[in-house]
Amino acid sequence: MKKILITGGAGFIGSHVVKLFLQKHPTATLVNIDKLTYAGNLENLKEIEAHPNYVFVKGDICDRKLVKSIFSSYAIDTVVHLAAESHVDRSIESPFEFAQTNIMGTLVLLNQAKESWEKDFSNKLFYHVSTDEVFGSLEETGLFSETTAYDPKSPYAASKASSDHFVKAYQNTYGLPVIVSNCSNNYGPNQFPEKLIPLVIHRILENQCIPIYGQGLNVRDWLYVEDHANAIDLILRKGKLNHTYAIGGANEWTNIDLVKLVCRTMDNALGNKKGTSEKRIEFVKDRAGHDKRYAIDSSKLANELGWKPSLQFEEGIQLTVHWYLENKTWLENVVNGSYQEYYKKQYNTTP
Ligand code: NAD
Ligand code: TYD
Repeated sequence: MKKILITGGAGFIGSHVVKLFLQKHPTATLVNIDKLTYAGNLENLKEIEAHPNYVFVKGDICDRKLVKSIFSSYAIDTVVHLAAESHVDRSIESPFEFAQTNIMGTLVLLNQAKESWEKDFSNKLFYHVSTDEVFGSLEETGLFSETTAYDPKSPYAASKASSDHFVKAYQNTYGLPVIVSNCSNNYGPNQFPEKLIPLVIHRILENQCIPIYGQGLNVRDWLYVEDHANAIDLILRKGKLNHTYAIGGANEWTNIDLVKLVCRTMDNALGNKKGTSEKRIEFVKDRAGHDKRYAIDSSKLANELGWKPSLQFEEGIQLTVHWYLENKTWLENVVNGSYQEYYKKQYNTTP
């Protein structure tokens, strides 16, 4: 019976991973450690919070004492590490927080895993969830894969690249069993509305402008969040130890075309006249050091483990738009900050 520590399980991707794992690993205990930063939202986990196999610990992955006590109290044998500061724009404003959580937090977890497991590394795994942004930026052609050299360009990407290097160094130096996956841009329900797709949905609902950085010609490869969660589960079960896996949607969009698709989907859903939402688009100052293009070759994952994305992008955008329209309270609570009250109500204490 596995004892899995999931970090950052109250965030966007982490909450989908927690819900999927409770279904797919019915005999495992899942311990979720989350600091509940602005990005952590226990409302994402409402439907499973009383599940008998699930434990929530509010805490910081940089807290060595707490991490040690979790490993020993729950006899953790598997770590699925998602906790991170995750937004590039914030990393440009506050790089130190990114280095602290993404680098030091990862190091604390790695070191605890090494100390707790070093007598017997069998049946142990440290799975690190990372991003394709560690590889830098592509021009018009080419794809990132497992063999692409690291070349991070933003403080966020640099902090994630550093964490990947520490994971691989712990494998090489101490023999810690690890897996790293590097995924492209995710979208879907429960994403914080600082990221492009939920930001556009929210701005349309609020009748505000839709800011597009530069000319909107930067390209991202988008993947539905549940497809990422499924890939993580598959790699956890069947991936090769000490390997890395590139995960992507084979789904490249310029920001401008993507925003127009979201606008059309919103107009249809809201019964607006064609073209209504697009009028809100405003081209604004470009992001500093804005990576031009990301695109992933996930053929290793496809060929070795038989993974492929389950949704066409238009379907995924439909699902996402409808989720936000049906969960306006989630969005309102996030925007007005009251989602952080949920913890106090549930646990009768201050976060
Ligand atoms: P998110 O910002 O939505 O969630 C991050 C979670 O980590 C939050 O719940 C937050 O409270 C928690 N957290 C932050 N600092 C913490 C700390 N010091 N201790 C404990 N918990 C802390 O992020 P996300 O988009 O869900 O991304 C999750 C992971 O996946 C990250 O590691 C990110 O780098 C990676 N990733 C994200 C994407 C994407 O498109 N969002 C793509 C590829 C990889
Ligand atoms: P984002 O969702 O922040 O993800 P990332 O920077 O990790 O790729 O941004 C996706 C793309 O959208 C990126 O090229 C920046 C751009 N963007 C805008 O044009 N306007 C915005 O308001 C935001 C948040 C992003």
